Amino acid sequence: MKIAGKPYRTIWPRGDEAVEVIDQTRLPHEFATLALRAPEDCARAIKTMIVRGAPLIGATAAYGIAFAMRAEPSSKALVAAHDMLLATRPTAVNLRWALKRMHDVLHAASHGERFTLAWREAAAICDEDVEICHSIGVHGLKLFREMAAKKNGAPLNILTHCNAGWLACIDWGTATSPIYQAHDAGIPVHVWVDETRPRNQGASLTAYELGQHGVPHTIIADNAGGHYMQAGRVDLCIVGTDRVTKNGDVANKIGTYLKALAAKDNNVPFYVALPSPTIDWTLASGASIPIEERSADEVLKMTGRLPGGGVATVEIAAPGSPAANPGFDVTPARLVKGFITERGVCAAKEEGLRSLFPE
Ligand code: MRU
Repeated sequence: MKIAGKPYRTIWPRGDEAVEVIDQTRLPHEFATLALRAPEDCARAIKTMIVRGAPLIGATAAYGIAFAMRAEPSSKALVAAHDMLLATRPTAVNLRWALKRMHDVLHAASHGERFTLAWREAAAICDEDVEICHSIGVHGLKLFREMAAKKNGAPLNILTHCNAGWLACIDWGTATSPIYQAHDAGIPVHVWVDETRPRNQGASLTAYELGQHGVPHTIIADNAGGHYMQAGRVDLCIVGTDRVTKNGDVANKIGTYLKALAAKDNNVPFYVALPSPTIDWTLASGASIPIEERSADEVLKMTGRLPGGGVATVEIAAPGSPAANPGFDVTPARLVKGFITERGVCAAKEEGLRSLFPE
């Protein structure tokens, strides 16, 4: 997608020496890129959320393995880089998926070919993610078109939470792909963007990328979604996910569950855009998904732009008050109307997933 009219992916190679990424901690106030050259750089970028979003975390980790193989193509180095990268963030299963895929390609290869194979595989993971996200958009567009047809030309009002946009992936995004494709097809859409406290991925990233593409949108406080649903001003919800278990339970950014509850109460269809690498076939239900506990500082402080243009972090609570900060929650499958995947739309249950992914 484009920033200031120039097409970007979220991660791209610079020769075979480095990959460049967009520093998402600085958006929307400043657009800056930085180069990653070593597995430690990739681990740090994931941990500090310079890169974030399930698919992008996986892709960055894949390049981390490639850098490790360039420095020292031994099996010991492969395992060490794998373990370091796997420890960066616990909830998005795409990280484990990408690391396993890299390991599977490399472990039987000769030392001499490991870097070349790893670099190629990391690039393939990125290219495939673009294809997957585009296909999610194609299938989602069919649904959006049907819903828009009932609106007599009025915009389709879509609510989304967090950032499951192209910034969270390589391009297109998962939840945003049908939105971009509908907008590009001339279907009038309007997006309610949950601000997504505490890190504000909605206000800082989703609104930014929708704005860059010219998609009409409105940022709302996280607490406002239920009100708009009751008032009939939300036609559907669509979110991304960090991990879907075999039974269809969905881990996503904290606050997703409350939106799904409100959607159920108001008969608003709640869809999850789901790339297949985000399915965790090893877990029976969402109760077993590890939920990342993050720093209390993210709740107790906020960062924003000052009138003079500088960026500052301020405290918002009385000194000494403790805070808790779970990064994700689990939405039970029964609250999800359907999964929009790269192979089509299915019910949020094991049979639905297996009908599209029998292998
Ligand atoms: O903590 P983050 O910003 O990495 O969380 C991101 C999300 O929860 C996204 O909704 C999810 O990764 C899906 S991205 C296609």
